[in-house]
Amino acid sequence: MVKLLIKDGIRLDGRKPDELRKIKIEAGVLHRADGSCYLEWGENKILAAVYGPREALPRHIQDSTKAIVNARYNMASFSVEERKRPGPDRRSIEISKVTSEALEGVIFTELFPRTMIDVCIEVLNAEAGTRCAGITAAAVALADAGIPMKDLPVACAAGKVDGTVVLDLTSGEDKEGEADLPVAIAPRTEEILLMQMDGHMTYKEFEEALELALKGCKKVHELQREALLNKYKDFEV
Ligand code: CDP
Repeated sequence: MVKLLIKDGIRLDGRKPDELRKIKIEAGVLHRADGSCYLEWGENKILAAVYGPREALPRHIQDSTKAIVNARYNMASFSVEERKRPGPDRRSIEISKVTSEALEGVIFTELFPRTMIDVCIEVLNAEAGTRCAGITAAAVALADAGIPMKDLPVACAAGKVDGTVVLDLTSGEDKEGEADLPVAIAPRTEEILLMQMDGHMTYKEFEEALELALKGCKKVHELQREALLNKYKDFEV
C-alpha cells in the first residue's frame, strides 16, 4: 500500500497516531445566553450557547414527563472551504438529532417537565471532527447554564488512516483515510452516548479505535473540567 498520510509513524501534521490536536476551551463567553462555551480544536472554532429550561411552545410539543433537549448544529457559510449555503441541510439535521440524543442521555430532563432546553452549536471554522467538538462545547455550555447532569459528556473521534488506527482525524485524513469513528461518552461510567462510523474497519481495528477514542475523550474531559474550574474559581460557595 502507498502510504501518503502517515510516514515513519508520524502523520502529515506532525502528530503521533494517538495524539490529539491542540484544544482550547473557554466557559461562559456570552452574557445573554444562560450558559456558553467557546472551543478551538485544531482548526475547528465552535461557539455553543444554552438557553433554558423555558416553557416549550407551542404547547402541543410539551412533554408532561420531561424537558425536550433541542440541539441545533449550524455551520457558518464561511466555515468551510467551499461556501456553505446558509440554513439547515441533511447533514446538519442529522448532527443536530444525534447531538440532542447524546445530551439527553446525561441531562436530568425529568426535573423540568413541559420545558425546552435549547443548545445552539455554531461552527465558525470547520476542519473535521466538528460533531465531537460541538458536543464537547455544548456540554461545557450546559454545565455553565447550571443544567443538572449526571455527568459532563465529552466526544472524540478515532479512525483508520493508511492502515493505522489513529486518534482525532484531520480533514485530509477524514477524506482520504479508510474510516472515521466519532464517539461521545459519559466519562465516569463510559456509557456510550453517540457512536457513528464512516468507512470500513475490521472488528479488531474497531475495538482498537474505540479504545483510542475513549482515551481521547478522557483527555478532553480534563480540559472541559479545567475550563469550568477556571470560570468559577473566584466564586464564593
Ligand atoms: O465534522 P465531522 O467530522 O463531525 O462531520 P463530517 O460530515 O465527517 O465532515 C467532515 C468535515 O468535512 C467537516 O468537519 C468539514 O471540515 C468538512 N465539510 C465541508 O468542507 N463542507 C461541508 N458542507 C461539510 C463538511
